Amino acid sequence: MARTAKSWKVTIGNTGQVVSCARDETILHAAVLAGIDFPYTCASGNCGTCVSKIDMGKVAMLPRGDASLSPEQVTAGMTLACRALPKGDVGVTWLGRGGK
Ligand code: FES
Repeated sequence: MARTAKSWKVTIGNTGQVVSCARDETILHAAVLAGIDFPYTCASGNCGTCVSKIDMGKVAMLPRGDASLSPEQVTAGMTLACRALPKGDVGVTWLGRGGK
């Protein structure tokens, strides 16, 4: 996927890295493409492995399985990186693997 001016900056809290994310690209895709060892399994919104805390900014969510992220987690500011499209510059911290 081309890296153009039409992209957002995503700060990965676990590593301190900032990656470029196209407007139609998920946070997980951008992070993995940048070589970050972001935890994930299904990459399709069904397992919950990529659950992350939104540190800054807003995301839009692609469709996901109901069991992968609870309404309480959404209220608490969490998202699924594999389903999250940044709506601007954002920061996220993954919670899987103990956040490491
Ligand atoms: S990797 Fe499975 S829900 Fe994101």
